[in-house]
Amino acid sequence: MALWGGRFSTGPDEAFKQFNDSLPFDYQLAEQDIIGSVAWAGALKQVNVLNQQEYDDLVAALNKLLDEVKANPQAVAVAGHEDIHSYVESALIDKVGDLAKKLHTGRSRNDQVATDFRLWCRDTAEHILEAIAELKGEFIALAERELGTILPGYTHLQRAQPVLFSHWCMAYVEMLERDESRLSDAKNRMNYCPLGSGALAGTAYPIDRQMLAEGLGFTGATRNSLDAVSDRDFVVELLSCASISMIHLSRMAEDLIFYNSGEAGFIELSDGVTSGSSLMPQKKNPDALELIRGKTGRVFGAFSAMMMTLKALPLAYNKDMQEDKEGLFDAMPTWLACIHMAQACIKGIKVNADKTLAAAKGGHSNATELADYLVAKGIPFREGHHIVGTLVQMAIAQGNNLEDLSLEQFKSVHSIFESDVYPVLEIDACIKARQALGGTSLEQVTSAIKYAKKNSK
Ligand code: ARG
Repeated sequence: MALWGGRFSTGPDEAFKQFNDSLPFDYQLAEQDIIGSVAWAGALKQVNVLNQQEYDDLVAALNKLLDEVKANPQAVAVAGHEDIHSYVESALIDKVGDLAKKLHTGRSRNDQVATDFRLWCRDTAEHILEAIAELKGEFIALAERELGTILPGYTHLQRAQPVLFSHWCMAYVEMLERDESRLSDAKNRMNYCPLGSGALAGTAYPIDRQMLAEGLGFTGATRNSLDAVSDRDFVVELLSCASISMIHLSRMAEDLIFYNSGEAGFIELSDGVTSGSSLMPQKKNPDALELIRGKTGRVFGAFSAMMMTLKALPLAYNKDMQEDKEGLFDAMPTWLACIHMAQACIKGIKVNADKTLAAAKGGHSNATELADYLVAKGIPFREGHHIVGTLVQMAIAQGNNLEDLSLEQFKSVHSIFESDVYPVLEIDACIKARQALGGTSLEQVTSAIKYAKKNSK
């Protein structure tokens, strides 16, 4: 039964009904719709629309319905009603008859859906915050496990300067911390309750909206009814948080795909997160990471779709806004699954420290140290840079590293070089020199780990 049949002489066309119905996806709001309805029943009792007995009967029936939908959510999806609000009302009529018809007094599906959706978003944000914290923990554990491992650091995918592998891990911890803080800001901002805003103008019953909001765990009630029913910023913000976080995960995936390649051989992914080829028996493909990278597009797609849907929508509610759900209902579990999968990948990583060290030693990634050596001897950096460039060319010509050049060769470019140049070129010296805050020295990375651990408690 539709909630609005009285004004109509015929029912909707079958094609329109299918086009219009949102139950096949908003059934996911069943729990929130029922919880919101229990709260609304309380508000109606407060303004004497419901007496105590009616309130008790309605709440008992709603709680029973809650158990039923929790036990079989899929059954709701195919029940054939227009939307979750129609479904809940009709299921309630089945339980308590005409009394159920009183529940919609002073309420509109517009404030109802806005409330349900915020409740759903708030729960989801909490789950995702937990998952991000776990992933951060996994990165920190890997950073601690691999504390001595040296990795070539890249710019332009050219070996640039050596870094600690743990420094790489902690870079992602930084990103995840920002993801966490963005998401918890968004969660705080969305935590205001639209219920009691009516269709758009507010409700005509003297309901204590603040009390109603607090009963549902909101920080407070929304302040403007027009805004409250038409605001979907919280959806946009969640999708934006998801998109940025997915960008981070995609970069992590890309780094690891490269590290795991036959060419680099820096890491080995566990069997549990890789798959084989149906044709080539030797293959072990990084599918989990590629899917994380691939799903980033899908999540961002949902974000841009939501922005386009909202663009230039007049106040207040318009049916366009029903399009707010499917993208988010797809993007949030996708995001969560990617965080979980990233954790599984990080947990099972085996780092080939010999290979990372050998690669870090190659590529003349100690050239900056050499320039700094010259600076210490009083040569301006720009001139030193040029001198070192000449030496790099020399090393390349003989197929060697900078530290393999003889002192005569060094001196042939500039007489200031002495044998004290060799310790400077050692890889450990390159790492050790990066002592300023945020650098890759062991001390800095250790204190970054300590800070992150303290922060995650
Ligand atoms: N299914 C609708 C939605 O998801 C519920 C709100 C319907 N409101 C209305 N005025 N038709 O947006």
